[in-house]
Amino acid sequence: MSTSGKVIKCKAAVVWGLKQPFSIEEVEVAPPKAYEVRVKILATGICRTDNNATIGAMPAKFPVILGHEATGIIESIGEGVTTLKPGDKVIPLPVPQCGFCPGCISPHSNYCEKIDIIGRGVLADGTSRFTCKGKPVYHFMNTSTFTEYTVVEECAVVKIDAAAPPEKVCLFGCAFSTGYGAAINTAKVTPGSTCAVFGLGGVGLSIIIGCKVAGASRIIAIDINPRKFEKAKAVGATECINPKDYTKPISEVLKEKTGNSVEYTFEAIGHLDTMIDALASCHKNYGTSVVVGDPPSSTMLTYDPMLLFTGRTWKGCIFGGWKTRNDLPKLVSDFMAKKFDLDQLITHVLPFNKIKDGFSLLNKGESIRTVLTF
Ligand code: APR
Ligand code: ZN
Ligand code: ZN
Repeated sequence: MSTSGKVIKCKAAVVWGLKQPFSIEEVEVAPPKAYEVRVKILATGICRTDNNATIGAMPAKFPVILGHEATGIIESIGEGVTTLKPGDKVIPLPVPQCGFCPGCISPHSNYCEKIDIIGRGVLADGTSRFTCKGKPVYHFMNTSTFTEYTVVEECAVVKIDAAAPPEKVCLFGCAFSTGYGAAINTAKVTPGSTCAVFGLGGVGLSIIIGCKVAGASRIIAIDINPRKFEKAKAVGATECINPKDYTKPISEVLKEKTGNSVEYTFEAIGHLDTMIDALASCHKNYGTSVVVGDPPSSTMLTYDPMLLFTGRTWKGCIFGGWKTRNDLPKLVSDFMAKKFDLDQLITHVLPFNKIKDGFSLLNKGESIRTVLTF
């Protein structure tokens, strides 16, 4: 029986308020309005950003359905949708590509104005498509994937190869694209260069993969959790450093180890002190440092301007600089052609109703990516 045009009742993980747990509830998912699509989620990854939203370090309105890294199938489409049809395999896009805003028109930008990083929590018409126990439930980052069904705008979802394995390519919805693109598009890592990556979660490991594909000859991986080192080496790190083994800043340690020759550094933790130390770690004149980790909301950085005056470049990127609707299908094709492997990044696969276990693995530092399947 077709569900098109009808409200779907399904399971979703609702977070009712700040610092509240994920609660599996029955929710109602309204049909898509004009220029929207309803997506049946097949697999979704657990990202640090979702955790940040539960603790107030990333803006969100409550109650909310979090989750933003997923693969799904189009269940139905709203009026006016022309680029997608029911049955298409898709990735929802936390960074949309509307095609019309200044960021989309510029060939140098992927920052679509439709992005929701301020926690609007609603679709274009200002309303939500989710209700639970008679209350509206907010969306998150244009996607909301911790649910059996979600509704997203046409510009916030892209069709991918129907043969792509959902429990792997969901990582293109955030971690992999963000990290890999930071190395390839933002830093533009050059062959033979020396790189240093701070933070070895799903994002940091994806940066290492990008540095390796770009031909870096030395990739130094840094984490306070030495259990991350094995994976870092498996994806291409040439050496690993634990800041806890040193009393001096890592920038000093790197200068000594490399004879002051680190060209590219990446911060994939989201801490202010490591953002500055990553900047100080690249060469004072020709070095480039990229902020990849989400900066904690409502915070300010204080740093010595001499770090920049001597010639360093300090950059940031959102979603690895990819123009999402144009570029993700190509990234998925590269994956299908075995240009890179995601297996090292996926440490756990759990059924959706074990979402709390997935977050506890993340917070105990035991997982890289946990993928929830439906
Ligand atoms: N120095 C070095 N490593 C650190 C430090 C520190 N001071 N503090 C934490 N780490 C390490 C953690 O041990 C962990 O391995 O940083 C890593 C971060 O990995 P995850 O928590 O798995 O985060 P990930 O999903 O990779 O995201 C990284 O990008 O998308 C954003 O919000 C996300 O800001 C986060 C960042
Ligand atoms: Zn746009
Ligand atoms: Zn993410």
